[in-house]
Amino acid sequence: MSTIQYLRHLRIGTLSLPNNLILAPMAGITDYPLRSLARSFGAGLAVSEMIASQALVRNNLRSLSMARTAKEESPLAVQIFGSDPDIVAEAARISESLGAAIIDINMGCPQRKVVKNGAGAALMRDEALTARIIDRVVKAVSVPVSIKIRLGWNNKSINATRIARAAQDFGASLVTVHARTRSQMFSGKADWSAIRKIKDAVSIPVIANGDIQDPVDARLCLEISGADGIMIGRGVLGRPWLFGQILHFLETGKHQKSPAIENQYSIAKRHFEYLIDFYGIPRGLLLSRRHLAWYSKGLRGGALFRKVLNNTETINEVEELLIRFYEAQQT
Ligand SMILES: Cc1cc2nc3c(=O)[nH]c(=O)nc-3n(C[C@H](O)[C@H](O)[C@H](O)COP(=O)(O)O)c2cc1C
Repeated sequence: MSTIQYLRHLRIGTLSLPNNLILAPMAGITDYPLRSLARSFGAGLAVSEMIASQALVRNNLRSLSMARTAKEESPLAVQIFGSDPDIVAEAARISESLGAAIIDINMGCPQRKVVKNGAGAALMRDEALTARIIDRVVKAVSVPVSIKIRLGWNNKSINATRIARAAQDFGASLVTVHARTRSQMFSGKADWSAIRKIKDAVSIPVIANGDIQDPVDARLCLEISGADGIMIGRGVLGRPWLFGQILHFLETGKHQKSPAIENQYSIAKRHFEYLIDFYGIPRGLLLSRRHLAWYSKGLRGGALFRKVLNNTETINEVEELLIRFYEAQQT
């Protein structure tokens, strides 16, 4: 019998979270509607989409709204990216004033448009700058600061342990590691075992991330990495209930079935309503297409559902389509 306690409270600086399961930041995806749903299914914490520091400092309205939070999803970690220590620190201060309970600094984004400006994963190539940014942000805010990194830039420059240690020295309260290098982008398999070295090198909590798709992955990742918690991104798309299933499995060792189809319908509909409430029309309608498409994956007639969905123009049309699609699953 294993003695590892997989499910635990997580302490991040002065903050105490009910559990160690975290919704990953995903640009264009982890908005307030998805974060609220994930929290309602048991995620201990959610992280905002990444927000450009420059845009926050320039008072860009869309960026400011991305950093806003509400009581129901408290505490929220707001993730910012940038490469200028003054600007990142100012963006952190603004995010704190908008309600962020944690400031997360993106040091793992592999996208060309981000790394060409020295931000995201490019920061891992400049350890001195990375340290300066962490130092400035920690001094600029009173909430805990975390960083999200990859293993390194490529397999010849694996430096996550050094960066994590520097983060701890400069006052960061948590490190999340996506167990791939920047060169890997999203290819290959996340190397959970590589996280153990980082965990052994620091005393602040370390969160493991990458390729956790189901409760068995969740337990295996915690076991292999020795991490204090896990962060899940793509696995949650179209099935926010995954958090509840993981909680149940880590607690009892038993599998919990996916919700009955009528409950899946209610959850998808709730998600749709949240999106419309939050974004209004037409943006809410447009953004709902990708989320509802994810819910339909693996269900009967999913491809046709997605095709019709992409031609809907009104809330009524989407609602009727959802009813027809989920009713057809039961026949
Ligand atoms: C569409 C998409 C958007 C993402 N956006 C962000 C982001 O804004 N900030 C960030 O740190 N990571 C971002 N990521 C990376 C995820 O947070 C996570 O590290 C990665 O997907 C691996 O975890 P997973 O296998 O559980 O999805 C994104 C990933 C995807 C697929």
